[in-house]
Amino acid sequence: MACDRLKGKSALITGGGSGVGRATALRFAQEGASTIGLFDRDESALAAVVAELETFGTSALALPGDVTSRSLCQAAADAVIASHGRLDVLVSNAGADGDAPFLEMSDDEWHRVINVNLTASFVLGQIAARAMVADGKGGSILFTASISGMGASDGDAHYGVSKAGIINLVQTMAIELVQHRIRVNCVSPGPLDTPLSRALLGSDEAMEAARAHYPLVPMGRLGLPEEIAAAYAYLASDDAGYTTGQNLVIDGGNHATVFVNPVGTL
Ligand SMILES: NC(=O)c1ccc[n+]([C@@H]2O[C@H](COP(=O)([O-])OP(=O)(O)OC[C@H]3O[C@@H](n4cnc5c(N)ncnc54)[C@H](O)[C@@H]3O)[C@@H](O)[C@H]2O)c1
Repeated sequence: MACDRLKGKSALITGGGSGVGRATALRFAQEGASTIGLFDRDESALAAVVAELETFGTSALALPGDVTSRSLCQAAADAVIASHGRLDVLVSNAGADGDAPFLEMSDDEWHRVINVNLTASFVLGQIAARAMVADGKGGSILFTASISGMGASDGDAHYGVSKAGIINLVQTMAIELVQHRIRVNCVSPGPLDTPLSRALLGSDEAMEAARAHYPLVPMGRLGLPEEIAAAYAYLASDDAGYTTGQNLVIDGGNHATVFVNPVGTL
């Protein structure tokens, strides 16, 4: 149940055109955020989410661009600050995946995923933190990691390392920025029902099968982007005022599992 925990706050959300980013923007608007900047490389998706946000009376900014550009990341943060006066919350969420066996992974493929997921998180986190320090009022910086950053999944060396890097970046940022009243946390989702998963599973049929039954997850289903958005609303709000440096795992029990045995015995 949404409330007004983010009343009057501003946020910059990357990957805001789809999946987790879109759901988070909608949840922040439901919880009273007054200005939300959506940064995404998909301009048409941004226009649709901006229209949805405006139905809540939220001032929504479409900020098209690629998160691998420091100057565009800076421009996106500056746009939110120009509109609202300050930046209260960053959700660095845009992510790239790929599927390449370790023995065949090219340098280009490695760098593509590391740049979008990890280097852009460093850049965006630094830009947001500098703005919050200059403003002097603190803030909340949030990242989307993954349970792939906490263990292996084949074909995902680049992705797993990028997400593991985010989990460690969060810890370092949290202790360095605590003196400025900036809290830094991440969420590690398990497999979700989003367009990214659809692209990885390869077909609508495979996606439908995963929705109906996902055997690696004790809850037996994919997570919903709204279930991640709810965690971001909590972590962005004063309800999480004593929470920093944390990695909140939201995965239907996936990472807690060694074996999932449908008949209950081995
Ligand atoms: N889907 C899953 O199962 C899952 C599981 C764990 C973690 N995650 C993470 O959640 C985050 C969001 O994923 P999602 O499932 O909502 O995906 P999605 O594909 O639905 O949305 C991702 C959005 O990010 C944008 N984007 C991608 N690369 C970008 C770039 N370089 N610059 C700007 N925008 C870019 C896309 O245009 C898209 O709108 C990602 O970081 C992903 O790694 C997803």
